[in-house]
Amino acid sequence: MQRVYIFDTTLRDGEQSPGASLTPDQKLEIAHQLARLGVDVIEGGFPLSSPGDFEAVQRIARSVQGPVITALARAVRQDIDAVWEAVRDAARPQIHMVLSVSDVHIEHKLRSNRRDVLRRGVEAVAYARSLCDAVEYSPEDAGRADPEYLYETLEAVIDAGATVVNIPDTTGYTIPQEFGGLIASIRQHVRNIDKALISVHCHNDLGLATANTVAAILNGARRAECTINGIGERAGNASLEEVVMVLKTREHSLGFQTGIVTSLLAETSRLVAARTGIAVQLNKAVVGGNAFAHASGIHQDGVLKDKQNYEIMRPADVGMGESRIVLSPRSGRHAFRFRLAELGYHLPEAAFNEAWDLFLGVADRQKEITDRDLERIVNAVTVEAG
Ligand code: KIV
Ligand code: ZN
Repeated sequence: MQRVYIFDTTLRDGEQSPGASLTPDQKLEIAHQLARLGVDVIEGGFPLSSPGDFEAVQRIARSVQGPVITALARAVRQDIDAVWEAVRDAARPQIHMVLSVSDVHIEHKLRSNRRDVLRRGVEAVAYARSLCDAVEYSPEDAGRADPEYLYETLEAVIDAGATVVNIPDTTGYTIPQEFGGLIASIRQHVRNIDKALISVHCHNDLGLATANTVAAILNGARRAECTINGIGERAGNASLEEVVMVLKTREHSLGFQTGIVTSLLAETSRLVAARTGIAVQLNKAVVGGNAFAHASGIHQDGVLKDKQNYEIMRPADVGMGESRIVLSPRSGRHAFRFRLAELGYHLPEAAFNEAWDLFLGVADRQKEITDRDLERIVNAVTVEAG
């Protein structure tokens, strides 16, 4: 088994979700939970952006034990100094810096040229390394960059002292085969790549962030940048719980492990949703309210015979308790009998048949049948039978 390291950026990129801003106290609370969850790196924020964010990162660095603590800087001294001041008291601090690498960003955002950007990146890495032993360099928008210039950049920043090179698909533009291929080609073409850890950071604009992250791991990336519930800029980032559960569920065929305590995933998801105010969609993989709910008769019958028929993960393994049988107009008799038994009703066959007919009538009028509805149905049958 090979180890994949999980870099959590819920408190930095995740907090960039519109409306998700967190106070320093909330960031600290989430950071402690992330440490319990077993993440390898916590990115606490962007210290230069506000005094509150500086304070949050510094408090995390001073009190959260276990993970590497990092924060984001642009490739300028003022930012790098702010990050270093904020993280330096951590047992394992890291400076993370970002500078664009795609031509579209270089020309239309930085209004610069490849040569100057490369020189600026190299100088910034050398400066950061004069402060801190661990420096991560993110060539922003690598997914849309000219690969040759990307290789040149990576080689130069590793020579300047970068210990981690992170390949961001900043705009969520790539597709898995392509992004995996990019990681493989970086390993092939960057002369000194064995001196740095390859990390990846995928955005979800086309719904491919998790798939791209997994493709990158299959091609040699060993660190994955993720957020809880997949929150983040625009359509969000690769979801931590999805990436981790892909690796765990398919561990035997893929051969990778993480240090995540998966039974804490649901609890962590709920905490992040509550503090950011961003609800988790019901059909969200792994931690969504319906992720282990079965509603159609065919599926319910299969699950009641053996959960393996329709469940590839055990809900308890991700902290989601038990799977649920939800009664709907598409449910079958097997599920109806099971739900009645759960409520303590064991009807004789004739009464059960009557109850089933009543159920079908109610189910056709309602989207979901509650326990209260079931009680009413059973009472009606009992009264009629009496
Ligand atoms: O999306 C991005 O490129 C980033 C970098 C800072 C890694 O968030
Ligand atoms: Zn990002």
